[in-house]
Amino acid sequence: MNQWFHFSKLQLVYRYNQFSMYNVKIITSTVRPGRKGPLVGKWILEQVQKQGIFTAELLDLGEIDLPLMNEAAHPRMKQYEHEHTKQWSAKIEEADAFIFVTAEYDYSYPASLKNALEYLLHEWAYKPAGVVGYSIGAFGGVRAIQTLKSDLLSLKCVALGEFVPIPNINQFVTDDGAFLPNEQIIGATTLMLGQLQRWTKGMKAIKEDK
Ligand SMILES: Cc1cc2nc3c(=O)[nH]c(=O)nc-3n(C[C@H](O)[C@H](O)[C@H](O)COP(=O)(O)O)c2cc1C
Repeated sequence: MNQWFHFSKLQLVYRYNQFSMYNVKIITSTVRPGRKGPLVGKWILEQVQKQGIFTAELLDLGEIDLPLMNEAAHPRMKQYEHEHTKQWSAKIEEADAFIFVTAEYDYSYPASLKNALEYLLHEWAYKPAGVVGYSIGAFGGVRAIQTLKSDLLSLKCVALGEFVPIPNINQFVTDDGAFLPNEQIIGATTLMLGQLQRWTKGMKAIKEDK
């Protein structure tokens, strides 16, 4: 075989690995029966899969069903007593990046997401996060998005400047439960995913440089 042909094939494999090695967890925040979060989360998952940069997994806090934080030791110790915490820790540890899909509850993000964040510490650190917000009101969950973004910093999880607000969520949900967004939402998502790729690459270097 021609040695140059062989070399370029190796390069292709290297490049493929380089761009498909990131793992993103898409986390939906709400837990009530009939929640819209997973509908939006599923659509985001499809967009990530189309982008082809990340291995993606949708984590629905309603299914994960964490109790209120009940570990005795501070999460910085990583001395987890309960199986639900060990499993949650393992899932979040796997991630290189996150996309939080959050509803707005009382001008903030839901307590179920705050609880899920509080369980862990190191697992969130030095990883970027895109935030998608939605609400029944006109503001697209921006107050939830802003509060979440500032809280993430205390966990050393870095929220991107680019985010996706989805106002009047019900207009985008069909009778058979599909989420069908408009051009504005699609455009904001594309922009956010592009930035997430860039930040993931940079943050991975920071995380590994101890
Ligand atoms: C407890 C609660 C608080 C809410 N607070 C707000 C709010 O502050 N602003 C808003 O626009 N909508 C608010 N809503 C409406 C939600 O945006 C809407 O119901 C959305 O679908 C909730 O997400 P979920 O379906 O995933 O639970 C609230 C809903 C609930 C259940």
